[in-house]
Amino acid sequence: DTPYLVDRFGRTARDLRVSITEKCSLRCTYCMPEEGLPAIPGDELLSAGEIVRVVTLAVRELGVREVRFTGGEPLMRRDLEEIVAGCHAAVPETPLAMTTNAVGLEHRAAGLARAGLSRVNVSLDTVDRTAFARLTRRDRLVSVLSGVRAAHRAGLSPVKVNAVLMRETLSGAPDLLQWCLTEGGALRFIEEMPLDADHEWARANMVTAAELLEVLGSRFTLTAAGRDDPSAPAETWLVDGGPATVGIIASVTRTFCADCDRTRLTADGKIRSCLFSDEEYDLRALLRDGATDAELAELWRGAMWQKWAGHGIDAADFVPPERTMGAIGG
Ligand code: GTP
Ligand code: 5AD
Ligand code: SF4
Repeated sequence: DTPYLVDRFGRTARDLRVSITEKCSLRCTYCMPEEGLPAIPGDELLSAGEIVRVVTLAVRELGVREVRFTGGEPLMRRDLEEIVAGCHAAVPETPLAMTTNAVGLEHRAAGLARAGLSRVNVSLDTVDRTAFARLTRRDRLVSVLSGVRAAHRAGLSPVKVNAVLMRETLSGAPDLLQWCLTEGGALRFIEEMPLDADHEWARANMVTAAELLEVLGSRFTLTAAGRDDPSAPAETWLVDGGPATVGIIASVTRTFCADCDRTRLTADGKIRSCLFSDEEYDLRALLRDGATDAELAELWRGAMWQKWAGHGIDAADFVPPERTMGAIGG
């Protein structure tokens, strides 16, 4: 019996993504419905203490090497600092990252760094205020840009910037890249996946990596530089000969499931082996039933063993999962 999170296709999960809330301060059209997601009742959310226990178990018993907090928006939890500090105290050698929209981060970046957060990935699709407000349905660009700068100052680096490729913001891609080159954010564009709450994603209408390269090519010279490591979702291009780079996560047109090293926990304490899977395993129930670490670990190993080969977006019978992006954590 291997102690690790292995599956039938020979993959080992080393990267744990923990969603800590379904709430968000923005309403990006590719992720959230206008009215937000139905709130998870407070007693169904994992508490800070429960998250710390589970993260500790994943690292100590199951071979997880990096932990990432996601949402919704992790900053919506007021006990985020407590969660980070608890995990850092329990597994000080393990990098703790966060994926955030950076709204309000300017006020918390320093405290989060002190609590033990290692780095942040910021979701930012455009630096045009009008386009930002339309896409996110909230006029918060100024706060986001301050948040990115505060993350730099706090040493939460490298600060990566994630931009989902959308038709409305495509023409602004060169400006976004220029902003990141100036401010020092490592920019990665992401192909939109069929996880939007409004179910408007259509393969025929999505912006592909190839289209983006053409748009960026009008202002920059890009040279292909491969992947940083085989399980990294982003492929990298040198900008104007380097050293600056831009990444593309081609989740749809060049899938990377074969090298996937991720396992996920939802805010309400369910294990998911894949972003697209509809199978969930109720870790919270076991946890609250007084299960031992060994029992929790066994459930987790079983969940990952059932992981499928990949999402099969291209297949005719592809069905998006019931939970949308905001409820899985990206
Ligand atoms: P780094 O470790 O900093 O490279 O982070 P990351 O790219 O793994 O995580 P991040 O939260 O920044 O996510 C960037 C994009 O990759 C988002 O669109 C995610 O939804 C997507 N992504 C993350 N994990 C997976 C995955 O397992 N499968 C697929 N298809 N996409 C993923
Ligand atoms: N497709 C691709 N990426 C998405 N994200 C949110 N929704 C989608 C989608 N439908 C991104 C966010 C965030 C990351 C966790 O996932 O912008 O950066
Ligand atoms: Fe891994 Fe599933 Fe994402 Fe593919 S879609 S990379 S298998 S989590």
